[in-house]
Amino acid sequence: MHLNREQEEMLNGEQGEVAERLFRLLVRLGEIYGAEEMIPVGSVQVAGVSYKSIGDPGLEFLEDFASKGAKVKVLTYLNPAGMDMENWKEIGFPEDFAKSQIRIMEAFRAMGIVVTATCTPYLAGNLPRFGEHIAWSESSAVSFSNSVIGARTNREGGPSALAAAICGVTPNYGLHLDENRKPDIVVDVTAPLEFNADFGALGYFVGKQVKNAKPYFRGIKNVNTDQLKALGAAMAASGAVALYHAENLTPEARDQDISGLEKIQVGKEELEGTFEKLNTGDLPDIVILGCPHASLREIASLADKVEGKTLKRPVWICTSRVMSEAAERMGFKAIIEKAGGKIVADTCMVVSPIEEMGYATTGVNSGKAANYLPGFCKQNVVFHNVDELIGKVIG
Ligand code: F3S
Repeated sequence: MHLNREQEEMLNGEQGEVAERLFRLLVRLGEIYGAEEMIPVGSVQVAGVSYKSIGDPGLEFLEDFASKGAKVKVLTYLNPAGMDMENWKEIGFPEDFAKSQIRIMEAFRAMGIVVTATCTPYLAGNLPRFGEHIAWSESSAVSFSNSVIGARTNREGGPSALAAAICGVTPNYGLHLDENRKPDIVVDVTAPLEFNADFGALGYFVGKQVKNAKPYFRGIKNVNTDQLKALGAAMAASGAVALYHAENLTPEARDQDISGLEKIQVGKEELEGTFEKLNTGDLPDIVILGCPHASLREIASLADKVEGKTLKRPVWICTSRVMSEAAERMGFKAIIEKAGGKIVADTCMVVSPIEEMGYATTGVNSGKAANYLPGFCKQNVVFHNVDELIGKVIG
């Protein structure tokens, strides 16, 4: 692999022990995937933030790096942590868990990482441009940035993203290259798509079918970015889709030649079957929205639905701190709290310890969350659109 002088310095340890270790990891990755060079990245998003996911070994690893003076070279954000970093006590997160989570965030902060913990960095101040090379690790954010924005990232693991942040570069392979961004299957959608949950169900179904292929959608109309994020998140979870194209919707779709590609069709029946398959519970102990993290539009919509009502079971909407603050300023937070719900920032239903907090059945409108909750959090799942979920818990 061709390396420039600065990169040779990193490899020789002239930029410190941590940079050397992490740069070696990037070189190894590049060799495995046949990269000829490193490319600078505009931003990084690091996963592996929740204490629930990384435990003591991860915490010690991060503290070790921070104590050795490691610093990031580019704008770097974090994936959700295991709890709301400000209101963890009042929401009921366990104290021991909180102590470890706070230490993790301090280690990241010491490395110069922005301790905004969100899977929607593009809504919270880390917005790449079309064509920009980035190194992100949260699979739904990878899908959104590649597909909806047209930025370029592989699905990084936590360590390779941290390496890109400390070294400022990533190996040039995979989705960074034009030739690997072409679609390989056409998905004709005839199913009616109304709610965000429908896009989650569509994404779940297609992800299962196409695995890590790059689908080209036809037939999706009148869609907003919340629905595209729901679609991409579910496809990345049930399959490993890191890039999709959608006719007349996503920026690289118009350049693609789809003649001769295999075609699949998704109709009403497939969508209904997916809802049926993902529903393993009936009455939720808690409803948790915001997977991927809610936009302000989604928070406003929830506020509108619960205004003047009483929720008889907990309802959370997970989001970034930035959106939470905007929701507070707009009065949405007060409305949701008055009804008995909560805006929970920095975390989500999958990476927080909800099973330890006494919940066994969770209501969600996200195909991704419905996919992960049974395995990661031992939950039964009630998967519906927001209206049906709120209808189940309203007093
Ligand atoms: Fe985000 Fe958690 Fe869903 S990280 S995409 S809210 S599982």
